[in-house]
Formats: sequence, C-alpha cells, structure tokens
Amino acid sequence: MARTTPRKKPSELRSHRWFGVTDLRSFGHRSRLKQIGYADADYAGKPVIGIVNTWSDINPCHAHFRARVEEVKRGVWQAGGFPLELPAISLAEPFVKPTTMLYRNFLAMETEELLRSHPVDAAVLMGGCDKTTPGLIMGAISMGIPAIFLPAGPMLRGNWAGKILGSGSDTWKYWDEKRAGNIGEAEWTAIENGIARSFGHCMTMGTASTMTAMADVLGLTLPGGSSIPAADSNHPRLATATGRRIVELAWEGPSLADILQPASFQNAIVVHLAMGGSTNCMIHLIAMARRAGIALGLDAFDRLAREVPVIADVRPSGRYLMEDFYYAGGLPALLKRLSGFLDLDGRNVAGTTLREVVDGAEVFLEDVIRAVDQPVYPSGGTAILRGNLAPDGAVMKPAACDPRFLKHRGPALAFESYAEMAAAIEADDLDVTPDHVLVLKNAGPKGGPGMPEWGMLPIPKVLVRQGVRDMLRLSDARMSGTSYGACVLHVAPEAFVGGPFALVRTGDPIAVDVEARTLTLDLPDDELARRHADWTPPPPRYERGYGWMFSQHILQANDGCDFDFLQAGPPTPEPEIH
Ligand code: FES
Repeated sequence: MARTTPRKKPSELRSHRWFGVTDLRSFGHRSRLKQIGYADADYAGKPVIGIVNTWSDINPCHAHFRARVEEVKRGVWQAGGFPLELPAISLAEPFVKPTTMLYRNFLAMETEELLRSHPVDAAVLMGGCDKTTPGLIMGAISMGIPAIFLPAGPMLRGNWAGKILGSGSDTWKYWDEKRAGNIGEAEWTAIENGIARSFGHCMTMGTASTMTAMADVLGLTLPGGSSIPAADSNHPRLATATGRRIVELAWEGPSLADILQPASFQNAIVVHLAMGGSTNCMIHLIAMARRAGIALGLDAFDRLAREVPVIADVRPSGRYLMEDFYYAGGLPALLKRLSGFLDLDGRNVAGTTLREVVDGAEVFLEDVIRAVDQPVYPSGGTAILRGNLAPDGAVMKPAACDPRFLKHRGPALAFESYAEMAAAIEADDLDVTPDHVLVLKNAGPKGGPGMPEWGMLPIPKVLVRQGVRDMLRLSDARMSGTSYGACVLHVAPEAFVGGPFALVRTGDPIAVDVEARTLTLDLPDDELARRHADWTPPPPRYERGYGWMFSQHILQANDGCDFDFLQAGPPTPEPEIH
C-alpha cells in the first residue's frame, strides 16, 4: 500500500534549504533566480518541480517534448508549484551507437544526481523511447522523491500503398522481401516515407510501448496515460494534468519506492505477458524492482508465462498497432480483462487504486483486446530456458516464432562477432540449411558492449531466396521488441566473460525444448571442460572513460544489467549547502 505523508509545511520542503533560509547562500540562490526573471511570488514557499526532459534535436520519438514541457509547466503553475526544466540525455534509439543500452544506467545516474543536486521537491519524468523509461524511473526511485512518469505516447500508424506499417516489425519483413527480390527500390523508398508518420515512440508492441505500459501498471503514470497516441490532443491534456498532480505529490508524497511493492511487479509481469511485450522488459523490470529493494528474477516471468494468455492482438505477436489498442480502451481495458490475475489494491501516483482504474474501464474493440478465453495465444508469451549453454538463463518469445522451432536440434553455425556474421550471411555459397542454429557470441552486456539489439540475426541470403523466413538463432544479445522469430536471447553468462556459450563451435549440436525449458549444447562434459581450459579472455572493450566504468560494473542480463553499485543500498545523503 502506497504511503502518503502528512501534508508538508513550506518550511519542510526540500527546496526550502536553498530558498527559504536566511544566509549568504540562500541570498545567492534567490538573486540568481531573479537574474532569470523570476520574482518572489513565482517561487517563494512553493514546491519546486523538476521536469527531467529527454528531448533532443535527434530524438524523433520525443520531438513533441519541447511543446509538452510547456504543457507540464502550465499544470505546475496552475497548482501552485514552481517548474524547472532539467534536460537529460535523450537516448534516441535509432541513432545512438553502439546501443542505447550502454547508456540506460548513464541516464539513471544523471536523473538521480540532477534531482539530488538541485532544489527539487518532486519530479516529472518525460520519456518513452526505449531506455528512457527505465532509466528515468530507476534514477527517480533511487533519489526517493515523489515523481510521475509522463510517457511520450506512440506515433500514428504507418501507411504505404494501402497497407498499415508497424515500426521495426515491417522494416525487417520488407527488408527480407527486398533481399529476396520481391520488392524494388521504389517500393522500399515509399515504405521509408510512410513508416514513421508522426512524433511519438514506436507504435508496435516494442520496448517503448511495453515499458510505458509497465510504468502505467506500476502506478507511476496517470492511469491509462501510456496508451494515448502522441499526436492525440488528449496527450497535451495528460501533460498538463501531470503537472497539476505532481504539485500535490510534492506536498504529501508518496515517493516511487513507496508505490512500488512486490505485487506491483507481479502485476507488471502479467501485463507484459498478456501484451506479448518486448523481451527487453525483463531486464528493465528486474533492474527497476531491485532499485526499489524488491527481489525479482527470471523465474517469476516463466512461472506466470505458463498461466497468462496473450490477449493484446498487437504486432509483432498480433495484427494491430498501439493506435488501435488505444481506441480499444487502452491499458485500463486490458487490465479489466486481466483482473483475475492482478492484485488490485496497489495505489498509483493519481492517489487511486488499480481496482478503481479497472472499474472505470471498458473494452471497445473485442478483436484488439481479446477476452482471456479468446486469446491470441493461450500462454507462453515468454519462456526462460536453462541448460549447460545458459546456466543463468536465456529468454525466448515462443508466441512470435514458427512453432516448429519450439523443439529443435540442429548444428551450430557460430560467429565470434557481429561483423563476422554480417559478412558471412550475405554470401551466396554459405554452407547452411534451415535446420542450422545461428549462433552469435560476444554480444552481451560486456561483449557487445552494452548488449545491442542484434539477437534477430538475419536469415542467410541463400535461405531467404529459398523462401525461408525463420530459423533458430541464439545469442547473448537482446533483440528489438519489434522483432520476431525463433530467437533465443540474453544467454547468461555471456560469452565475453567466459560463460559456456563461449565454447560453441560451428557444427556442434544444439537442442532447444521450449516445453521442457531447456537449452543444451550436446557435447560430452570432458570436451566442454577441455574447451573451457583453453579459453582465453578477449581484450577489454574499453580502457578509459564511461565505457571502462561500464565494463567494470555492469551486471549480467539475468540481474537486470544495472551497475553493481547502483542497486538498492543505504540512502545517499542530501548535499550539504554552505
Ligand atoms: Fe524510439 Fe522505437 S525508436 S521507441
């Protein structure tokens, strides 16, 4: 149950230490606000609301955040708060290399320290493009002040030649059609022109839509906010309502860690599964839970996956897109369908319970948000595989793959790096069959580095031309939530640190059995022991800077890829002001 505190007096606000006292430093703080043009009446005795904005010129998913931040401020002013915009790293998924995942913890640290080092009483967190949601929330949890997450909202549906296009999913699909010679340059350019038609995050059930829904079900957004399309006029109204509400929270809490309970994460996993959500979500939820001091591991996902049906008919697991999901009633409608699986007593940043959210919800389009007895898939949104190849687990999304790979044994075609794989995969004389298992090593948290979204390895060109569109693929990488296919991901421990995955060679027999949840390298133990003794660690990826720090402290995928020194611990002291 979320804890609220008695309404604070102005002298009890955190920002009072900066502005409300009578000393030399506070003189400096006040005079410098006046330098910006603010008068006493603008800020004195009011809660300061830090608005952490991940806008940048190169983030298309957050292109509307310059307008939205003004709409948040409007709400803050209306409710008697003092808004301060604090820009943070933008993490535009399409542009940041080698991968935004290298910087999720950077954003988390930046958020926490921005809020701690400034005179902030409560925060609005503006994000949505994949890593921004967990990064902002992880930082705000650790900071420990009240906060509301404002999701960017999904972009409009893509459109090309009368067909609806989904971010990512249709890129991969039509790229294979182009490689097979079924479409030409003109069609490919027309798809490029039509696939991203507005600001907002990817509108498939990728990582962005999954993680903003997670923030919503965890109670960290105004209820239902995650489903509102970015270009819908309900979205600016959500921003202003968020601004009004955060002022109330600044006076009486609760903080994010107060809202987040073990049951909140059980609910989040149920929703993740029912949406056919991104596999990345598992890494992020584990990291977020552990920031809040809640033990969460992969087994909880596997256990619930055997019970919870996939009922959101949204690509890549289904047919529709997030815009349709919103018209169908959005997340509250999905929660209503799932109420038998959920703990409805948890509270949210709006001060209501999940039960109240569910009671006010309705499903408007039955084929987009299905009944639990009419699912897209009866169960199995996610499976956790273990075995001698992945003692700490690997992840698969059975609902998004050709069923013949749910039990499969085939020879490995193994690559030590993405560059090696990319060069081989286009060769016309590659010795490969549809039964081969493609293996990509050294693409994990340390090896990638940053665990890039390389896990949907391209089907070899010779097979694409034969009409093959799916095959078993294995890596210690992640894959985009918009991807699909028989991809086993997040193999832990990763190859780069000497996990058994490092020992796979081309030709080795590999067996996957999803029903039994096993992933096996079918070789005698003494052969594996010999190879292990011969293994030598690769040279470090970085020897200075942020990359070096990342390599020293990053945890494996099954532990959420947080930095070891950022997981829950004793509170960090408030800064001294002298
Ligand atoms: Fe930003 Fe997909 S590129 S969410």
